[in-house]
Amino acid sequence: MNYIIVDTYKELSKKAANIIVSQVTLKPNCVLGLATGSTPLGTYSNMVEKYNAGDVDFSKVTSFNLDEYVGLDSLHNQSYRYFMNENLFSKINIKKEKTFVPNGMAENLIEEGKEYDRLIESFGGIDLQLLGIGIDGHIGFNEPDKVFTAETHIAELDDSTIKANSRFFNSEKDVPKQAITMGMKSIMRAKKILLVANGKGKKDILEKAIYGPIDPMIPASILQLHPDVTVIFSKE
Ligand code: F6R
Repeated sequence: MNYIIVDTYKELSKKAANIIVSQVTLKPNCVLGLATGSTPLGTYSNMVEKYNAGDVDFSKVTSFNLDEYVGLDSLHNQSYRYFMNENLFSKINIKKEKTFVPNGMAENLIEEGKEYDRLIESFGGIDLQLLGIGIDGHIGFNEPDKVFTAETHIAELDDSTIKANSRFFNSEKDVPKQAITMGMKSIMRAKKILLVANGKGKKDILEKAIYGPIDPMIPASILQLHPDVTVIFSKE
């Protein structure tokens, strides 16, 4: 595991964007796995800057997002589809029909999960997966549990996740209690993984995940088994 520590969020965001842009430069038709949340925002704005400067072309890229809240449609301003459209997809030349986010409004969420995995598989899997980490150690919405779940599945969000994410909603009770999330199989089959985390609040859980025992109660610890993981942590 390549563990890079930088001082500022700005440096983290630049480095992460450089890694993603290099991936797209090396393989223009690559498959990117993308994350939402506040940590990747700076990465996405740096990617947009590079696109505006003419340094990268996303027209052949396909993307798969990690997760979506159950019950929020694409027009809800806290849905992850909305987040991605606003912060990245509408600002670069990726083809909208090549951007995939699980559908949290699907009538049959179990089928939706199976279909999502089939779709990822049909594109040959993910080349580079971007991840954040939750304060409970989750990646995607793979929450602490007795086992790691392989497939895309419905996750009951932990109280700590609901609390942490309530900052984006009017109140804690507005945060959906469930999400549909990519499972560990598609994440771990990604050829490369880039995990970004910032601030004191993430350091302990990040280091437990990197250096502690591999334990489904700390979902990100499974990344220790992956051959090509880069972690960028910024102190602020
Ligand atoms: C979101 C996701 C989550 C976040 C994590 C950290 O798509 O997969 O695992 O990466 O909750 O969120 P922030 O960056 O808001 O601290």
